[in-house]
Amino acid sequence: MTKKILSVFGTRPEAIKMAPVVLKLAQNEKIESKICVTAQHREMLDSVLDLFQIRPDFDLDLMSPGQDLFDITTKVLNGVGDVIRKAKPDVVLVHGDTTSCFAAALAAFYLDVPVGHVEAGLRTGNMRAPFPEEANRSLVGRLAQYHFAPTKTAEKSLLAENVSPDKIWVTGNTVIDSLLMTREKLGIKKDEYWEDIFGSSLFDAIINSSRKLILITGHRRENFGQGFIDLCTAIKQLALAHSDWDLVYPVHLNPNVQQPVKDTLSGIKNIHLIEPLSYEPFVWLMDQSDLVLTDSGGIQEEAPSLGKPVLVMRDVTERPEALDAGTVRLVGTDTKQIVDNIEQVLLNDKIYNSMSTALNPYGDGKAADRIVDILLTGSFT
Ligand code: UD1
Ligand code: UDP
Repeated sequence: MTKKILSVFGTRPEAIKMAPVVLKLAQNEKIESKICVTAQHREMLDSVLDLFQIRPDFDLDLMSPGQDLFDITTKVLNGVGDVIRKAKPDVVLVHGDTTSCFAAALAAFYLDVPVGHVEAGLRTGNMRAPFPEEANRSLVGRLAQYHFAPTKTAEKSLLAENVSPDKIWVTGNTVIDSLLMTREKLGIKKDEYWEDIFGSSLFDAIINSSRKLILITGHRRENFGQGFIDLCTAIKQLALAHSDWDLVYPVHLNPNVQQPVKDTLSGIKNIHLIEPLSYEPFVWLMDQSDLVLTDSGGIQEEAPSLGKPVLVMRDVTERPEALDAGTVRLVGTDTKQIVDNIEQVLLNDKIYNSMSTALNPYGDGKAADRIVDILLTGSFT
């Protein structure tokens, strides 16, 4: 008998990390795989769906400009509820910690369908940081029956919350599957391909090895307001003090991010504000960069695998592995902290070299295979 699996996701990072899983599910003849995208993100989601050639069976198309948490939660709960009633899956798979993930898991729980949680067990221990992600993933941890933990640390956190050990599997993080799949394709692309994407002047700056390249991303809700003003001030100070550095910032489409970033950082010659990049050029750009400054979750996992030092604009992280290994540093959003840390890392070869050892504590590229095997052999009743 085939197993019916409904995978639900809605944002760019969930799509990147679920792509290897849904591609494997689709190849398995013992599985009937359906995909529902909430489209909590639209353009940023579609670019990942296009890259991995994923065709959703259901698209809730719910994104609205400047949406709030109530909008997303209620639309996902009702929309995914309807899809589950129609598709009648044996298991609903959700990923990570977005509001799409939480509300989809709640819909499945209300309809008495078992939930499998991919990237389970990440915790900071602080319900307000990151907000609302720590609450989302903790609540999904209560609702789910099957917990696919990326690391032993995540498994430990689930055990500490009394999740039964026989419902936890340490699989590795599927982000490494995606990263390796994508990286493999980059080698065959010629310079002209990247020049076309980035434009010749930015391309020249990116590949100019006598200039340092800092890659920046930021979008966390708890940093909105003063946090963003402070971090943008740091970026501006660094750009003005180091004319031989280039700072490239693909700006997240959230209006709460766009406004402070464009207000503070437009018109500075060595700051390059660009649109969010599709995943392939983003991985290429990470690989070209000297240092990554970010508040992202996924980039904290990817950049260490590429041997790039990462400064994380947060006070706490749910991904302690690379922090413990010394590749990642937490710098918060304080202007001076960011400036001092970046200068220290980029101007001191000894510190730079100690932070840029390639490190891969998050997976071996086979997480999706493991998850699909477990879904086939597990008894989902
Ligand atoms: C969401 C997730 C966050 C995740 C992040 C990844 C929640 C509450 N937040 O935050 O956990 O880390 O995605 O990026 O689940 N927008 C567009 N086009 C897009 C995407 C976003 O225009 O393709 C704009 C829209 O105005 C939208 C706004 O960004 O309303 C915010 O999107 P939303 O998903 O609510 O928040 P994110 O900050 O993206
Ligand atoms: N990413 C991308 N294009 C960009 C910026 C990021 O493809 O312009 C990818 C990045 O490689 C990572 C994911 O998006 O896999 C991270 O997304 P984000 O930072 O928005 O979310 P988080 O991981 O913090 O939830």
